[in-house]
Amino acid sequence: MDKFIIEGPTPLKGQIPISGSKNAALPLMAASLLGNSPSTIHLVPRLKDIYTFNDVIRGTGTEVDFNESENTLRIDPTTLNHTEAPYDLVRKMRASFYMLGALIGRAGEAKVSLPGGCAWGPRPVDLHLKGFETMGIDIELEQGYVHASIDNNSVEGGEFTLEPSSVGATINLVLGAVLRAKKFVIKNAAKEPDVVLLCNMLKKMGADIEGIGTDTLTIQKVDKLEGVEFSNDPDRIETGTYMIAAAMHPDSDVTLTGCKPEDLGRFPTYFKKLGVHFEISGSDIRIQTNGGINPVSIKTKIYPGFPTDLQAQWATLMTQAKGTSTVTDTIYFDRFSYVPELKRLGAKLSVEKNKVTIQGPTQLTGTSVMSTDLRASVSLVLAAMAAEGQSEILRVYHLDRGYEQLEKKLNSVGASITRADQ
Ligand code: EPZ
Repeated sequence: MDKFIIEGPTPLKGQIPISGSKNAALPLMAASLLGNSPSTIHLVPRLKDIYTFNDVIRGTGTEVDFNESENTLRIDPTTLNHTEAPYDLVRKMRASFYMLGALIGRAGEAKVSLPGGCAWGPRPVDLHLKGFETMGIDIELEQGYVHASIDNNSVEGGEFTLEPSSVGATINLVLGAVLRAKKFVIKNAAKEPDVVLLCNMLKKMGADIEGIGTDTLTIQKVDKLEGVEFSNDPDRIETGTYMIAAAMHPDSDVTLTGCKPEDLGRFPTYFKKLGVHFEISGSDIRIQTNGGINPVSIKTKIYPGFPTDLQAQWATLMTQAKGTSTVTDTIYFDRFSYVPELKRLGAKLSVEKNKVTIQGPTQLTGTSVMSTDLRASVSLVLAAMAAEGQSEILRVYHLDRGYEQLEKKLNSVGASITRADQ
C-alpha cells in the first residue's frame, strides 16, 4: 500500500488542469449498455473506480476499450450476453449498483450484488429497490443479490417520490425506465449536473425524458436507443477541492483550467465570503490569496447547495480561518472520519451529531495520519500541505479512486508530495 510524504507549508502558484468527473462518467458508462451500437465517451478520468467499472461492464460480455492517453472510452454492448454484476466487483465500487438499472433496461433482467458498506456508515439502496417495484419490476433479494425481472417486454411504470432526494436512485431508475416503462414519473429527483448529463446523453441516444434539470423527471419508453459519441463534464468536486487547496495558504496564485464553473452551484457564493480574490473567465478559475481567510459556516444540501463531497475539505480550510465556524452535513450525518486525523495535525475542532465546530486559525504541525475514505483523504493532503514540517498520509489508495494525478498536479504548483511504499 502506498503512502504520501508531504513537506509543508508550501505556497501554491501556477496552473492546475481539471480532469473529467468520476461521478458523472460512471452513469454515462452504464447508459452505453442501453444502445444498439457502440458509444464513445470523452474526458473519462484515469481513476481506479473507472477501471473497476470497466471490469464490471466487461463481465456482461460487453467490449470496453479505454484509450488512456486520450481519456476516451469506447463501449460496444452488442456482444452483451450476461446480466450479472458480481459481489467481488460491486463491493469495490458502490456505483456498480447502476448495473441494476442498465441491465433491466437492456435485457429486462438483472442479478446485481447489493453494494457493501462504506467508510462512514450505512448507505442504503432502499429507494432504488422501491422505485423499481413501483415501476413494475419484480425485485427479489437472495443471498446478498438483487434479482430483477419483468414478465413482458415493458412495464406500466407509475409515479415514485424520492424521500430523501437521491443521486444514485435517480440515475438507476432513469436507466431502467427509458426502454421499459410506458410512463414513469420520478418526483423529488436529484438535479446534480451528473444526473442532467446522463439524461442529455440518453436523449441523444433517442430516449424520451421530460423535466431534465428539474426535480420531476417524466420518462416514456422508446423501442430502441442508439450508441453515441458524448463528452463527460469536468469534475466539479475536484475543482472545489483545488479552490480550497489554494485558499489554505496566505500567498497563493492558482489558476484552474478546463473547469465548468456553472456546475459549482452555490459553492462560489460561500467561497467569496472567505475574502480571497477569485475570478471566473470562461473555463478558468483563478484564486489569489493575500493573508488569512474569514470563517464561513456552511450546511451541505442537495444540488445546487453546498456539496457534501466538499464538506471535509471545507472543515479543513476552516482550521486556517480567523475565527470559529461550523460545518454541518445534512446529507450524511456521520461523514466525519477525518476529524480525529486533523486533530493529530493540531487542529482544534469537535463534532456534535452532524455538526463540526472549528476554531481557527491554527498552525498545523506535520505527523502521520490515516486516510479513511476518498474525500477525507484529500482533506488530509490539504492539511499536510499547510502544516509545518513533514507529514505521512497512509492508505492513499483511497485517493487514487477519485483524483487523477493528484500529486503531479499539486507538485506542479509548488507542493512537496512524494509517493512511497507504506
Ligand atoms: C452520490 O452517491 C455520489 N456518488 C456521492 O459521492 C455523493 O456524496 C452523493 O451522491 C450525494 O451527493 C457517486 O455519484 C458515485 P445519494 P449516492 O443516494 O448516489 C440516502 C464521492 O465521494 N439514500 O444521493 O450513493 C443516503 O443515505 C461519493 O464521490 C437512502 O436513504 O448518494 C443519503 O443520506 C461519496 N436510500 C442521501 O440519500 C437510498 O436508496 C443521499 O444519497 C439511497 C440514498
